[in-house]
Amino acid sequence: MSFSLVVLAAGEGKRMKSEKSKVVFKVSGKEMVNRVIDEAKKAGVDDVCVVVGHKAEMVMEAVGSAAQFVTQAEQKGTGHAVMQAKDFIAKSDNVMILAGDTPLITAQTLKSAIDAHVKDENTCTVLTAVIDNPFGYGRIIRDDKGDVAKIVEQKDASEEEKAVCEINSGMYCFNSAELLKALDMLTDDNAQGEYYLTDTLAIMKAANLKVGAFVVDDATEISGVNDRLQLAEAEKVMKKRINTFHALSGVTIIDIDNTYIEDDVIIGQDTVIYPGTTIEKGSKIGKGVVIGQNCRIVNSTVGDGTDIYYSTMVDSTVGENCHVGPYAYLRPHSIVGNNCKVGDFVELKNATIGDGTKASHLTYIGDAAVGSNVNFGCGTVIVNYDGKSKFKTTIGDNAFIGCNSNLVSPVTVNDNAYIAAGSTITDEVPEGALAIARSRQVVKPDWKDKRSK
Ligand code: UD1
Ligand code: CA
Repeated sequence: MSFSLVVLAAGEGKRMKSEKSKVVFKVSGKEMVNRVIDEAKKAGVDDVCVVVGHKAEMVMEAVGSAAQFVTQAEQKGTGHAVMQAKDFIAKSDNVMILAGDTPLITAQTLKSAIDAHVKDENTCTVLTAVIDNPFGYGRIIRDDKGDVAKIVEQKDASEEEKAVCEINSGMYCFNSAELLKALDMLTDDNAQGEYYLTDTLAIMKAANLKVGAFVVDDATEISGVNDRLQLAEAEKVMKKRINTFHALSGVTIIDIDNTYIEDDVIIGQDTVIYPGTTIEKGSKIGKGVVIGQNCRIVNSTVGDGTDIYYSTMVDSTVGENCHVGPYAYLRPHSIVGNNCKVGDFVELKNATIGDGTKASHLTYIGDAAVGSNVNFGCGTVIVNYDGKSKFKTTIGDNAFIGCNSNLVSPVTVNDNAYIAAGSTITDEVPEGALAIARSRQVVKPDWKDKRSK
């Protein structure tokens, strides 16, 4: 039996007070609309269609090839939005309808709802929840037998209906053919003058079709994001979920409320993460690593046993048993070997560093290939840029770069070479040689006394 997905994402989201579409706001690093799509895909839906309208370009760019799109030029309600996807819906036996602004829904819940829909042979299964404060939501009105009779919107509800605490999540499974028939019968005869998708349930009921409710245990899963306060709350829930997963997988997170880890980050056992640390998408952290406080690690790999303090890493790799920071900055395409030191105020960019190499303090290494067991003295600068172009520097194994040296690229320092402190190196240094590139010290005896005279 085929199951497709329609995501409603054409609304304006006025309460976000933003130039952006609401559904492209990120929660733990992933756009809300993409969270919804990814969870539904994990739950087993096949093809995906997103209904776009307000800021359509932005939504289409965020979703990319994960879905096809239909446009709802004017936003005349959720039922009207679904009507735009009629051709798409006609292609599958069943369709799941979700909103693009409910980032906390999980694949597990959607899968259970799909299973219930199929098992109970429902024409429609609506996901509902019982909450303390149902204000604003559509209410689930049940008949004498306890079956779902209809959904009434807040603005159309009687006092008695407003007292109902079972709410419509805005998530449904439908039999596609019956949904298409019911859509044709919708009217906009209601308080908001909109075509309500919710009215299809009463239409199906009147046709003696089976409408069921799937009550979601954890109501936070269905909460929508309408303003930035709710966005912050969603972020909090997602952060807790992700951190709980890592904590239960053997990672010590010192402060669960103050550590930010995005989806799909891999962290090894016995790693310790200190507060204020952000680990973003694509990162892979080894075992027994120490990170923090206040590190930002973006799409980077960290080997077993390494520690990183107060540092930033972007699109980079550090090997095993290294010491990084405090205050190191690894810019994109930095690849550091094992047993290395990238100390305080050391910046790397597009550089490869061999095993055992140490840059302990105040050093810039850009566009360079550095061998193993090299020692960078304090204040070494690789002068890789002449104002127009970038050039490459090569440094061999076991080289010793004295403090406060400039290596003017392009330049090569061969294996076992030494560079005297304070040198400005512009020419190749042969293997095993010592290069001194500074003026000799001049001493003028008794100079002070002579000057006074
Ligand atoms: C809707 C439901 C309500 C439910 C609530 C759950 C209806 C009539 N009401 O109300 O029962 O409790 O969701 O959150 O369905 N959208 C479009 N085009 C439109 C209108 C909306 O694409 O013309 C999209 C929005 O972008 C949004 C979703 O549909 O992603 C829901 O729309 P919204 O206006 O937020 O519906 P609610 O009033 O919250
Ligand atoms: Ca809403």
